[in-house]
Amino acid sequence: MIDLGLNGKRAIVSGAGYIPERAGHGRFSSLNLAAAGATVACIDIDEGRAKAIVEEIQAAGGNAFPVIADMESYAEAERAIAEAVHGLGGVDVCVDIIGEATWDRAEDFSPAVWDTTIQRNLSQVFYFFQLAGRHLIAQGTGGSIVALASVDGFVAAAQHAPYGAAKAGVVSLVKTFAHEFGKHGIRVNGVAPGNVGSGNEDQPEGEYAVNGVNPLAAPRAHDIANAVLFLSSALAERITGQTLVVDGGATIKAMWEMDDATLEGLR
Ligand SMILES: NC(=O)c1ccc[n+]([C@@H]2O[C@H](COP(=O)([O-])OP(=O)(O)OC[C@H]3O[C@@H](n4cnc5c(N)ncnc54)[C@H](O)[C@@H]3O)[C@@H](O)[C@H]2O)c1
Repeated sequence: MIDLGLNGKRAIVSGAGYIPERAGHGRFSSLNLAAAGATVACIDIDEGRAKAIVEEIQAAGGNAFPVIADMESYAEAERAIAEAVHGLGGVDVCVDIIGEATWDRAEDFSPAVWDTTIQRNLSQVFYFFQLAGRHLIAQGTGGSIVALASVDGFVAAAQHAPYGAAKAGVVSLVKTFAHEFGKHGIRVNGVAPGNVGSGNEDQPEGEYAVNGVNPLAAPRAHDIANAVLFLSSALAERITGQTLVVDGGATIKAMWEMDDATLEGLR
């Protein structure tokens, strides 16, 4: 048996709830951490969604409790993380799921939408890293922080420029916080999903390259949650400052296609 080192650990997931028409990264990440033996403080802006994921974890035999807060507000985030740490009796694992794209042409985005998108996808992550980090530093026992970035932080984010810029910022924050927190034994990493879309859990195994984007197949929410689990676990105890891309290979496509006839001519 491989030990993930998460049994009995204390975890916070920010944005733990599930909106059915969305991917469910908070839900699957929370379920994974609870299944690995961690108690999960499930933070969400929506009380019903926070309670629903807590009930789902408990129904599966895990331990969890809800914390209600708008994590885009610094004061609310400070209060919620303190409440979570108090309820858990300390903290070992911190996961930030929150983020959402806005859509427009680059030449049409309003300054107001730019500001709200940066707030939701970048400033909010900075708040989480700083506030969760303070508790981990004060506790003095190390720990792990993971945030969801996006492939849009690595490649062009066509028609969602502020989101791509914010997610590139998350990739930068992951490196900087990892650098500064390393001396406290705190690891900071990111997970960059490809296009999961609105839940594709029923996608069958064994059907690869079904579209021109993903050489393998599009990632599912549980693929993202598995990356979150790995980076939060003892298996990743010497990994920090990294953002793990989980995109079915979408961003590694070659710059040209080569058919067999062309290849034969070159061999
Ligand atoms: N789905 C994809 O294809 C994809 C691709 C790349 C990156 N991502 C990233 O995944 C994350 C979102 O995953 P999702 O769509 O499964 O989550 P989601 O948008 O469904 O949100 C999960 C939970 O977060 C809560 N939440 C939202 N704003 C909050 C706030 N201010 N305070 C507290 N709680 C809040 C919601 O109520 C919800 O229950 C984002 O960071 C997004 O950028 C998703």
